[in-house]
Amino acid sequence: MRNFDENSITQAVLDRVAQAPDPRTRQIGLALVRHLHALVKEVEPSMAEWEAAIGFLTRTGQMCDDTRQEFILLSDTLGVSMLVDAINHRDADGVTDTTVLGPFYVQDPAVFPLGSNISDGIKGEPLFVSGTVASADGTPLAGAAVDVWHSDADGYYDVQQMDELGGLAMRARLLADAQGRFHFWTIRPAAYPIPHDGPVGEMLAAQARHPYRPAHVHFMIHADGHDTLVTHVFVAGDRYLDSDVVFGVKDSLIREFPSHSPGTAPDGRMMDRPYDSLHYDFRLKRKPA
Ligand code: BEZ
Ligand code: FE
Repeated sequence: MRNFDENSITQAVLDRVAQAPDPRTRQIGLALVRHLHALVKEVEPSMAEWEAAIGFLTRTGQMCDDTRQEFILLSDTLGVSMLVDAINHRDADGVTDTTVLGPFYVQDPAVFPLGSNISDGIKGEPLFVSGTVASADGTPLAGAAVDVWHSDADGYYDVQQMDELGGLAMRARLLADAQGRFHFWTIRPAAYPIPHDGPVGEMLAAQARHPYRPAHVHFMIHADGHDTLVTHVFVAGDRYLDSDVVFGVKDSLIREFPSHSPGTAPDGRMMDRPYDSLHYDFRLKRKPA
Protein backbone atom coordinates (compact mmCIF):
# COMPACT_ATOMS: atom_id res chain seq x y z
CA MET A 1 0.00 0.00 0.00
CA ARG A 2 1.23 3.47 -0.86
CA ASN A 3 -0.05 6.88 -2.07
CA PHE A 4 -1.86 7.63 1.19
CA ASP A 5 -3.86 10.84 1.44
CA GLU A 6 -5.70 12.49 4.29
CA ASN A 7 -8.67 10.23 3.72
CA SER A 8 -6.82 6.93 3.57
CA ILE A 9 -3.84 7.25 5.92
CA THR A 10 -5.68 6.78 9.25
CA GLN A 11 -7.03 3.35 8.29
CA ALA A 12 -3.66 2.31 6.89
CA VAL A 13 -1.94 3.10 10.19
CA LEU A 14 -4.72 1.40 12.18
CA ASP A 15 -4.34 -1.76 10.07
CA ARG A 16 -0.64 -1.90 10.82
CA VAL A 17 -1.00 -1.17 14.56
CA ALA A 18 -3.71 -3.85 14.72
CA GLN A 19 -0.99 -6.46 14.19
CA ALA A 20 0.33 -5.93 17.74
CA PRO A 21 0.15 -9.38 19.36
CA ASP A 22 -0.56 -8.17 22.91
CA PRO A 23 -4.28 -7.22 23.18
CA ARG A 24 -3.77 -4.29 25.57
CA THR A 25 -0.90 -2.89 23.48
CA ARG A 26 -3.16 -3.25 20.43
CA GLN A 27 -6.09 -1.52 22.13
CA ILE A 28 -3.96 1.39 23.34
CA GLY A 29 -2.14 1.77 20.01
CA LEU A 30 -5.38 1.81 18.04
CA ALA A 31 -7.00 4.36 20.36
CA LEU A 32 -3.88 6.54 20.22
CA VAL A 33 -3.84 6.61 16.42
CA ARG A 34 -7.61 7.20 16.18
CA HIS A 35 -7.60 10.11 18.62
CA LEU A 36 -4.32 11.64 17.42
CA HIS A 37 -5.43 11.61 13.80
CA ALA A 38 -8.83 13.02 14.82
CA LEU A 39 -7.07 15.87 16.64
CA VAL A 40 -4.90 16.67 13.62
CA LYS A 41 -7.91 16.53 11.29
CA GLU A 42 -9.85 18.87 13.57
CA VAL A 43 -7.02 21.36 14.14
CA GLU A 44 -5.34 21.18 10.70
CA PRO A 45 -1.98 22.45 12.01
CA SER A 46 0.36 24.40 9.76
CA MET A 47 3.85 22.92 9.37
CA ALA A 48 5.15 25.62 11.75
CA GLU A 49 2.52 24.75 14.36
CA TRP A 50 3.38 21.05 14.16
CA GLU A 51 7.07 21.85 14.60
CA ALA A 52 6.15 24.01 17.62
CA ALA A 53 4.18 21.10 19.10
CA ILE A 54 7.14 18.74 18.66
CA GLY A 55 9.41 21.41 20.16
CA PHE A 56 7.08 21.76 23.17
CA LEU A 57 7.16 18.00 23.86
CA THR A 58 10.93 17.90 23.32
CA ARG A 59 11.47 20.70 25.86
CA THR A 60 9.08 18.99 28.26
CA GLY A 61 11.27 15.88 28.17
CA GLN A 62 14.49 17.88 28.41
CA MET A 63 13.16 19.63 31.55
CA CYS A 64 12.90 16.29 33.38
CA ASP A 65 15.57 15.13 35.82
CA ASP A 66 15.72 13.42 39.22
CA THR A 67 13.81 16.23 40.93
CA ARG A 68 11.71 17.71 38.11
CA GLN A 69 9.08 15.72 36.22
CA GLU A 70 7.62 18.06 33.64
CA PHE A 71 5.50 15.32 32.02
CA ILE A 72 3.70 14.71 35.33
CA LEU A 73 3.06 18.45 35.57
CA LEU A 74 1.68 18.37 32.01
CA SER A 75 -0.60 15.45 32.87
CA ASP A 76 -1.68 17.21 36.09
CA THR A 77 -2.43 20.57 34.47
CA LEU A 78 -4.38 18.98 31.62
CA GLY A 79 -6.55 17.15 34.17
CA VAL A 80 -5.30 13.76 32.98
CA SER A 81 -3.86 12.75 36.36
CA MET A 82 -7.20 13.37 38.07
CA LEU A 83 -9.04 11.58 35.25
CA VAL A 84 -6.84 8.48 35.66
CA ASP A 85 -7.31 8.75 39.43
CA ALA A 86 -11.10 8.93 39.07
CA ILE A 87 -11.22 5.93 36.71
CA ASN A 88 -9.18 3.90 39.17
CA HIS A 89 -11.26 4.79 42.24
CA ARG A 90 -14.82 4.36 40.98
CA ASP A 91 -15.94 2.01 43.69
CA ALA A 92 -15.05 4.01 46.78
CA ASP A 93 -18.10 3.93 49.05
CA GLY A 94 -17.24 4.87 52.60
CA VAL A 95 -13.59 5.41 51.68
CA THR A 96 -11.62 8.68 51.82
CA ASP A 97 -11.48 10.44 48.45
CA THR A 98 -8.20 10.38 46.57
CA THR A 99 -6.34 13.13 44.75
CA VAL A 100 -3.08 13.66 42.85
CA LEU A 101 0.24 12.45 44.26
CA GLY A 102 2.18 15.39 42.85
CA PRO A 103 5.93 15.49 42.24
CA PHE A 104 7.14 16.20 45.78
CA TYR A 105 6.70 12.78 47.43
CA VAL A 106 9.95 11.19 48.62
CA GLN A 107 9.94 7.39 49.01
CA ASP A 108 10.38 5.92 52.49
CA PRO A 109 10.44 9.09 54.59
CA ALA A 110 12.04 8.96 58.04
CA VAL A 111 9.80 7.47 60.75
CA PHE A 112 9.01 10.01 63.49
CA PRO A 113 7.50 9.05 66.88
CA LEU A 114 3.90 10.17 67.42
CA GLY A 115 3.80 13.73 68.76
CA SER A 116 7.05 14.76 67.00
CA ASN A 117 7.57 18.13 65.42
CA ILE A 118 8.44 17.36 61.79
CA SER A 119 9.08 20.96 60.69
CA ASP A 120 12.79 20.94 61.60
CA GLY A 121 12.63 24.49 62.91
CA ILE A 122 11.37 26.07 59.69
CA LYS A 123 9.50 29.26 60.54
CA GLY A 124 5.74 29.32 60.35
CA GLU A 125 2.51 29.14 62.34
CA PRO A 126 2.64 25.99 64.54
CA LEU A 127 0.12 23.37 63.36
CA PHE A 128 -1.10 20.42 65.44
CA VAL A 129 -2.26 17.59 63.14
CA SER A 130 -4.24 14.61 64.39
CA GLY A 131 -6.15 11.88 62.65
CA THR A 132 -7.40 8.35 62.64
CA VAL A 133 -6.95 5.54 60.14
CA ALA A 134 -9.66 2.91 59.80
CA SER A 135 -11.12 0.47 57.33
CA ALA A 136 -14.30 1.58 55.55
CA ASP A 137 -16.37 -0.29 58.19
CA GLY A 138 -14.69 1.72 60.98
CA THR A 139 -12.23 -0.96 62.16
CA PRO A 140 -9.13 0.94 63.38
CA LEU A 141 -5.95 0.13 61.45
CA ALA A 142 -3.26 -0.18 64.12
CA GLY A 143 0.26 0.39 62.80
CA ALA A 144 -0.89 2.04 59.56
CA ALA A 145 2.03 3.94 57.99
CA VAL A 146 0.99 7.57 57.53
CA ASP A 147 3.35 9.46 55.19
CA VAL A 148 2.87 13.25 55.30
CA TRP A 149 4.50 16.09 53.38
CA HIS A 150 3.63 19.73 52.77
CA SER A 151 4.94 23.15 51.79
CA ASP A 152 6.25 25.84 54.11
CA ALA A 153 4.65 29.20 54.91
CA ASP A 154 6.04 30.59 51.64
CA GLY A 155 4.69 27.70 49.56
CA TYR A 156 7.96 25.82 49.01
CA TYR A 157 8.64 22.14 49.62
CA ASP A 158 11.92 21.02 51.19
CA VAL A 159 13.07 19.41 47.91
CA GLN A 160 12.82 22.83 46.23
CA GLN A 161 15.23 24.40 48.73
CA MET A 162 17.71 21.65 49.57
CA ASP A 163 20.68 24.04 49.25
CA GLU A 164 19.20 26.38 51.87
CA LEU A 165 17.78 23.69 54.19
CA GLY A 166 20.54 21.11 53.85
CA GLY A 167 18.08 18.23 54.16
CA LEU A 168 14.48 17.11 54.12
CA ALA A 169 11.85 18.71 56.38
CA MET A 170 8.08 18.95 56.72
CA ARG A 171 7.78 15.29 55.78
CA ALA A 172 7.64 12.13 57.86
CA ARG A 173 6.20 8.67 58.31
CA LEU A 174 4.11 8.18 61.46
CA LEU A 175 2.84 4.81 62.64
CA ALA A 176 -0.73 4.82 63.91
CA ASP A 177 -1.26 3.53 67.47
CA ALA A 178 -3.39 0.53 68.51
CA GLN A 179 -6.57 2.60 67.96
CA GLY A 180 -5.42 3.77 64.53
CA ARG A 181 -4.67 7.28 65.85
CA PHE A 182 -1.75 9.55 64.99
CA HIS A 183 -0.69 13.10 65.77
CA PHE A 184 2.27 15.37 65.10
CA TRP A 185 3.33 19.00 65.04
CA THR A 186 4.44 20.96 62.03
CA ILE A 187 3.85 24.41 60.47
CA ARG A 188 0.83 25.62 58.55
CA PRO A 189 1.34 25.20 54.76
CA ALA A 190 0.59 27.95 52.24
CA ALA A 191 -0.89 27.96 48.74
CA TYR A 192 1.81 27.79 46.09
CA PRO A 193 2.44 27.90 42.36
CA ILE A 194 3.48 24.60 40.79
CA PRO A 195 6.87 24.87 39.04
CA HIS A 196 6.05 27.12 36.08
CA ASP A 197 9.44 28.12 34.70
CA GLY A 198 9.27 25.46 31.96
CA PRO A 199 7.04 24.36 29.07
CA VAL A 200 4.04 23.74 31.37
CA GLY A 201 4.36 27.31 32.63
CA GLU A 202 4.40 28.54 29.01
CA MET A 203 1.25 26.55 28.33
CA LEU A 204 -0.52 27.96 31.41
CA ALA A 205 0.44 31.51 30.41
CA ALA A 206 -0.80 30.96 26.85
CA GLN A 207 -4.10 29.70 28.27
CA ALA A 208 -4.32 32.66 30.70
CA ARG A 209 -4.29 30.27 33.68
CA HIS A 210 -2.65 30.87 37.06
CA PRO A 211 -0.26 28.17 38.36
CA TYR A 212 -1.54 28.00 41.98
CA ARG A 213 -2.65 25.13 44.20
CA PRO A 214 -4.67 25.82 47.36
CA ALA A 215 -2.83 25.16 50.65
CA HIS A 216 -2.88 21.49 51.65
CA VAL A 217 -1.17 18.70 53.58
CA HIS A 218 -0.39 15.51 51.62
CA PHE A 219 -1.07 12.05 53.03
CA MET A 220 -0.13 8.62 51.69
CA ILE A 221 -1.39 5.87 53.98
CA HIS A 222 -0.41 2.20 53.79
CA ALA A 223 -2.11 -0.48 55.88
CA ASP A 224 -1.95 -4.27 55.51
CA GLY A 225 -4.79 -5.70 53.44
CA HIS A 226 -5.89 -2.27 52.19
CA ASP A 227 -5.37 -0.16 49.08
CA THR A 228 -2.81 2.59 49.65
CA LEU A 229 -4.58 5.93 50.02
CA VAL A 230 -3.05 8.95 48.25
CA THR A 231 -4.76 12.19 49.14
CA HIS A 232 -4.44 15.66 50.66
CA VAL A 233 -6.41 17.73 53.13
CA PHE A 234 -7.06 21.28 51.92
CA VAL A 235 -7.36 24.40 54.06
CA ALA A 236 -10.97 25.67 54.12
CA GLY A 237 -11.37 29.18 52.74
CA ASP A 238 -8.27 29.10 50.53
CA ARG A 239 -8.71 31.43 47.56
CA TYR A 240 -7.64 28.75 45.06
CA LEU A 241 -10.04 25.96 46.09
CA ASP A 242 -12.19 26.56 42.99
CA SER A 243 -9.33 27.06 40.55
CA ASP A 244 -6.68 24.51 41.59
CA VAL A 245 -4.31 24.35 38.62
CA VAL A 246 -4.34 20.52 38.76
CA PHE A 247 -8.10 20.07 39.38
CA GLY A 248 -7.42 18.11 42.59
CA VAL A 249 -9.91 19.61 45.08
CA LYS A 250 -12.84 17.60 46.44
CA ASP A 251 -15.26 18.98 49.05
CA SER A 252 -14.74 15.94 51.29
CA LEU A 253 -11.04 16.80 51.57
CA ILE A 254 -11.51 20.38 52.82
CA ARG A 255 -11.15 21.05 56.57
CA GLU A 256 -10.98 24.09 58.80
CA PHE A 257 -7.50 24.66 60.27
CA PRO A 258 -8.77 26.61 63.31
CA SER A 259 -6.51 28.94 65.30
CA HIS A 260 -6.07 28.50 69.06
CA SER A 261 -4.85 30.85 71.76
CA PRO A 262 -1.72 29.98 73.72
CA GLY A 263 -2.38 27.25 76.29
CA THR A 264 -2.46 23.49 76.63
CA ALA A 265 -2.68 21.75 73.22
CA PRO A 266 -4.64 18.49 72.71
CA ASP A 267 -1.49 16.41 73.30
CA GLY A 268 -0.77 18.19 76.61
CA ARG A 269 1.97 20.41 75.18
CA MET A 270 2.04 23.92 76.71
CA MET A 271 1.97 26.38 73.84
CA ASP A 272 3.24 29.87 74.63
CA ARG A 273 2.09 31.18 71.25
CA PRO A 274 -1.05 30.72 69.12
CA TYR A 275 -1.26 27.57 67.03
CA ASP A 276 -3.58 26.05 64.41
CA SER A 277 -4.94 22.53 64.23
CA LEU A 278 -6.18 19.99 61.71
CA HIS A 279 -8.02 16.74 62.29
CA TYR A 280 -9.02 14.17 59.65
CA ASP A 281 -10.48 10.66 59.92
CA PHE A 282 -9.16 8.56 57.01
CA ARG A 283 -10.98 5.46 55.72
CA LEU A 284 -9.12 2.92 53.59
CA LYS A 285 -10.55 0.38 51.14
CA ARG A 286 -10.07 -3.26 52.12
CA LYS A 287 -8.53 -5.38 49.35
CA PRO A 288 -10.77 -8.18 48.12
CA ALA A 289 -10.00 -11.44 50.01
C1 BEZ B 1 1.53 18.95 44.85
O1 BEZ B 1 0.48 19.09 45.45
O2 BEZ B 1 2.55 18.79 45.50
C2 BEZ B 1 1.53 19.05 43.36
C3 BEZ B 1 0.59 18.36 42.64
C4 BEZ B 1 0.60 18.47 41.25
C5 BEZ B 1 1.54 19.25 40.61
C6 BEZ B 1 2.46 19.96 41.35
C7 BEZ B 1 2.46 19.88 42.75
FE1 FE C 1 1.39 19.76 47.29
